[in-house]
Amino acid sequence: MEKEHVTLTINSDGSSLELPVLEGSTGPKTFDVTSVYKKTGMFTFDPGFMATASCRSAITYIDGEKGILRYRGYPIEQLAEHSSFLEVSYLLLYGELPSAEELTEFEYIIGHHTMIHESLQMFYRGFRYDAHPMATMVGVVGSLSAFYHDSLDIHNARHREISAHRLIAKMPTIAACSYKRYKGEPFIYPQNNLDYTSNFMRMMFATPCEEFEPNPIAAKALDKLFILHADHEQNASTSTVRIAGSSGANPFACISAGIASLWGPAHGGANEAVLNMLDEIGDVSNVEKYVAKAKDKNDPFRLMGFGHRVYKNHDPRATIIRKVCHEVLEDMTDTGNSPLFELAMKLEEIALKDDYFISHKLYPNVDFYSGIIYRALGIPMNMFTVMFAIARTAGWVAHWMEMIGDPDHRIARPRQLYLGATERPYVPLDKRS
Ligand code: SDX
Repeated sequence: MEKEHVTLTINSDGSSLELPVLEGSTGPKTFDVTSVYKKTGMFTFDPGFMATASCRSAITYIDGEKGILRYRGYPIEQLAEHSSFLEVSYLLLYGELPSAEELTEFEYIIGHHTMIHESLQMFYRGFRYDAHPMATMVGVVGSLSAFYHDSLDIHNARHREISAHRLIAKMPTIAACSYKRYKGEPFIYPQNNLDYTSNFMRMMFATPCEEFEPNPIAAKALDKLFILHADHEQNASTSTVRIAGSSGANPFACISAGIASLWGPAHGGANEAVLNMLDEIGDVSNVEKYVAKAKDKNDPFRLMGFGHRVYKNHDPRATIIRKVCHEVLEDMTDTGNSPLFELAMKLEEIALKDDYFISHKLYPNVDFYSGIIYRALGIPMNMFTVMFAIARTAGWVAHWMEMIGDPDHRIARPRQLYLGATERPYVPLDKRS
C-alpha cells in the first residue's frame, strides 16, 4: 500500500513537496518536516509548539478533547483508584506494571536511597532562612551531580537507572529539608520502615522533641495526588528536561532545570497562585468581579487553575482531585468543609456558566483544587509546587531515560523567524549621534 503523505505546495514557484505521514499507536498522526528546510530553504513556524510533536514517546497519552490521560496505556482514573505512587513510578520507568516481587524490590531500592549526603545539609545553611523552597530545590537538586560521580555516564544504562532511583528517592528528603530550613527546625532523617508519603510527612512535620505518627488518611491522599501529578506528556517542564538532557547534561542538572520551569505560575506554580487568588477574592460576593477581570483583555489577571494548552474539555485529574478534596475535608477538618473549598466551588460554578469560559474552553485544571487539599493536609502554601515537583520527578526521569536510551536522539536546537536588523556597518563612538 502506498505510504501516506502530505503534499506541500510552495506558492512562490508552484513546486510541491511530499512529506511522509508518521502514525503512532493512537492519537493524531504527524507529517515529517525534517526535510522541509533542506528542500525549500524555509523553516516551519510554531512558537509555543502548539501543533508540534517534539519527539517519539511511549510513556503518556493525552486526548485533550475527550479528557483522556493514560500512563503506559492505563487510564489515570484506574491508577488513582488502585495503584500507588511507587507502583506508578515503576510503570512510568519500565513500561509495565510490576509483579508483586518486582514492586517489593523497587520499594526496597527507593526506600534505601532516601538519605542525602551529610555535606548537602551545609548547602541549606547558605540560603537565606526565608528562601522559597522551590529556590532551594533548584539549587540542591542541581548540586547532586557533585556527589554522585559513580553514576554520571549517561550512556551506561545502569548509571541511568541508579540516577533515576536516587532522584525519585531523594526528592521528598530534599523537599522536607527545604521546608525545615524555612521553618528554622532541625532536619528529620528518613525512616525506611515507612511508606513513601508517610516518610515524607514525618520528615516535614516531626521534630526531635516528640514522637510523630503520620496520619494514614493524609498519607494516602498525598499518594493519590502524587499519582495524578506524576507525568503529563511533553509539558513545559518535561520538555525542559528533554532539551537539557539532549546536550548530554547529567540527570541531576536536567531535573533541576525541570524544577525551575515547573515553578512558573503558568505551569506548576499555578497551585500556589490559585490559593493566593482565592485569598484575594476572599468572599463569594467578589467572584463576579474577578471573573470579569479574567475576561478583560486589558487586565493581565487570569483565573489561576483554569485553562490548559491541551485539555479543551475537562482535565480528568481535576475531576478526581475535586472528589479527593471532599473526602479529605470530611476526614481532616472538623467542619467537613472549608470556606476556601466553598469559594472555589462557587468560582467554578460561575465560570463554567460564563460564555467567555465556555467559548475559550477554559475548565478547572489539575492545579485548581490541589492547593486546597494540600492546605487541609497541613502543607504550607510555599511548598505546593514542591509537591508537584516531587511527583513529576517520576515522569521527568522516565522521559529522560527514554530519550537518552533512543540511539537516534539528537541535541535539541530550534531555529527562529529573525525580525532584527539586517547587516549594517559598525559606527565608531565619536560618529554616533
Ligand atoms: C499545568 O502542559 C501541561 O500538561 C501542564 C500541566 C502538567 O501536568 O504538566 O497540566 C500542569 O501547568 C496546568 C496549567 C496551570 N496553569 C494555570 O492554571 C494558569 C492559568 N492558565 C493560563 O495561564 C493558561 O490557560 C495556560 C497557560 C494554562 C494555557 O495557555 P495557552 O494554551 O497558551 O492558552 P492561551 O494563554 O493562549 O489562552 C487562550 C485564550 C486567551 O484568550 P484570547 O487571547 O484567545 O482571547 O484563553 C484565555 C487567554 O486570554 N485564557 C484565560 C485563561 N487561560 C487562557 N483567560 C482567563 N483565565 C485563564 N486562566
